[in-house]
Amino acid sequence: MNIKVSFIFILAILLPTFLLAWFGLLAVQSEKAVVEKNMTQKYKAMADIVESQMKDALSRAPDEILTDNFSLDLLLSEQAAIFRDEVAIFDRKGRPLQGAVRNLKEAVYTKPLKQLPYTIAVYERYPLILEQLEKRQKGLVLYILLIVFSAVSILAGGFYSLYALAREWRFAQIKSEFVSHLSHDLRRPLTSIRMFSEMLKDGYVLTEEKKREYYKIISNESDKLTHLANNVLDFSRIERGRIRYNFQPEDIGKLVKETVERFKAYRTEEARPIILDMEACPLVTIDAHAITQALMNLLSNAAKYSPADKEIRVSLKNYKREVAVEVADQGTGIPSSEQEKIFQKFYRVPRAEVNSIEGSGLGLTLVKYAVEAHKGKVLVESEEGRGSKFSIVLPVG
Ligand SMILES: Nc1ncnc2c1ncn2[C@@H]1O[C@H](COP(=O)(O)OP(=O)(O)OP(=O)(O)O)[C@@H](O)[C@H]1O
Ligand SMILES: [Mg+2]
Repeated sequence: MNIKVSFIFILAILLPTFLLAWFGLLAVQSEKAVVEKNMTQKYKAMADIVESQMKDALSRAPDEILTDNFSLDLLLSEQAAIFRDEVAIFDRKGRPLQGAVRNLKEAVYTKPLKQLPYTIAVYERYPLILEQLEKRQKGLVLYILLIVFSAVSILAGGFYSLYALAREWRFAQIKSEFVSHLSHDLRRPLTSIRMFSEMLKDGYVLTEEKKREYYKIISNESDKLTHLANNVLDFSRIERGRIRYNFQPEDIGKLVKETVERFKAYRTEEARPIILDMEACPLVTIDAHAITQALMNLLSNAAKYSPADKEIRVSLKNYKREVAVEVADQGTGIPSSEQEKIFQKFYRVPRAEVNSIEGSGLGLTLVKYAVEAHKGKVLVESEEGRGSKFSIVLPVG
């Protein structure tokens, strides 16, 4: 996807979310600070009133009261009583002069009485405002989480839609390219079949040798058409979910040999050696038609993407629980960055010679689909300029 679009998209959703959340938090915090400041002033004023009243009472008290601790405590408690249940007096050891303090929460403001061995503690009996503010702050955090969650969902949804749209566009483009490729791929063999058959029919070819050569061209071109038609038919069946497999225990060694023979018969004009290297294998439950088609596709690729005189090695390996059919060529190879992509439908490695080699980019997609329907896997090992080895690994039993 376009990086600029993604960036604007992220900015358009995340920036307002972030600003909204930030302003919200700031508002609650400043409100809390104002309330706390007002309350502290109120408590200070209360403490000042009590303190001045105490001094006043002490200055007026007879001397014997001042030397009697019990009477002194009583006198001070009385002064604190004007703010009953809100102000408490503690002695130097931290003991309350009244009993009620036990029920109150922690003091919100304490002030030592300078000339006296006592402390005034002020309690907020109704700390509702702060509690509410704290609740509001918690609510705000939840609200922010919700906004972030929605933003992330919107982003994910948006990205997915854009991604799906981009993919659809790409597929639409690929499909139209496919149709034009297909008509091109169909026209080429059809034209030569028509041309050579007309020459034969009209008696322009006189020697037996030339006739044989032209019949061979016609036969090769019709094989190409068969290959193309088979792939396109299988592909459309897969696309419509109409493909059915007929699994039967099969002699895989026989199937490999017969397929290679059929393949050689198609390509009699090539001097290419096809080496068979077969290990004995047990019967494998497969759909013979699908595996033959898959092997045909691998052979056709090995031949298409390697020079006409380089050997192709076909091996059958017995790994006891699995069997592997391997097709190795000494051709162009596939860069490692392309090795996953080649299994995607219509994908062809973008190389200079791609247009001169016939193909629709369907062969390996069909191979992978058919092999995976057998609960097997397709492996590829390849090195550019050295060759490729494709393996169809099938479970035994
Ligand atoms: N043995 C190979 N050596 C080098 N490149 C290969 C080989 N096999 C496949 N490729 C690359 O992978 C691409 C996809 O292969 P695939 O068989 O799916 O399509 P195709 O051969 O182009 O067309 P089709 O098989 O439909 O006629 C090929 O176009 C080619 O670039
Ligand atoms: Mg192919």
